[in-house]
Amino acid sequence: MITVIANLKGGSGKSTIAFNLAVWLASHGEKVVGYDLDPQCTLSDLAELRKEEEVKPELHIHSVRAVLQEQLQAHPGEVLVDVGAANMAAMKEALGAADRVLIPVPPSQADVWATQRFLHIIKRDIKANPNGTELLAFVNRADTNESIPETGETEEALGMLPGIQVLPNRIKLRTGFRRSLSEGQTVFEMWPNSKAAKEFHVFASALYPELNRIRAVN
Ligand SMILES: Nc1ncnc2c1ncn2[C@@H]1O[C@H](COP(=O)(O)OP(=O)(O)O)[C@@H](O)[C@H]1O
Ligand SMILES: [Mg+2]
Repeated sequence: MITVIANLKGGSGKSTIAFNLAVWLASHGEKVVGYDLDPQCTLSDLAELRKEEEVKPELHIHSVRAVLQEQLQAHPGEVLVDVGAANMAAMKEALGAADRVLIPVPPSQADVWATQRFLHIIKRDIKANPNGTELLAFVNRADTNESIPETGETEEALGMLPGIQVLPNRIKLRTGFRRSLSEGQTVFEMWPNSKAAKEFHVFASALYPELNRIRAVN
């Protein structure tokens, strides 16, 4: 399955989510390959750092400026694609091949607007695959203080955008995400019992429910 992690705005957490998901899948025994289509190369830098530090599992990331839909579709296992608005041509090519688009949205009006524009681009420029591409939005960097209203308001606003599904599992603003990246590691590798790790596990399990079933059977 091809999952493209995308949104227009930088800093929404695309690379962080792509990285944590790639390691999560690999550590569940999945064959996973990543494509880094963003000139910032965050995902490739993280894979490189893991290699230098000999952190296992190793990540297989293609850092390229251009990609063809057929290339993405040729992989048998899980494909994760990290994109950035700085390379719109590659982003559009990847979106055209996506089975689903995972859209991280920080809780703010500006980010809702950016997401709205992003959806316009998808509708205007992307020929959805014949089975229908799922558009899945979720709040990343959600406030940990539940009484702050922006997270709920953002989910509500996202829910009104046509054609997208809002995931119920938020990823909260946890310093662990930032700190673990500088070690080339995920939150669940560095602090397996942390809130961030538990939240990420719930989030990833909901995206890949079949992996939990496999674990339950074994
Ligand atoms: N849920 C989160 N909690 C705390 N920090 C986060 C979270 N998500 C992302 N970050 C941090 O925000 C910064 C930008 O994230 P990044 O994944 O590079 O965004 P993008 O790829 O969309 O530009 C990074 O320092 C990252 O570690
Ligand atoms: Mg990025």
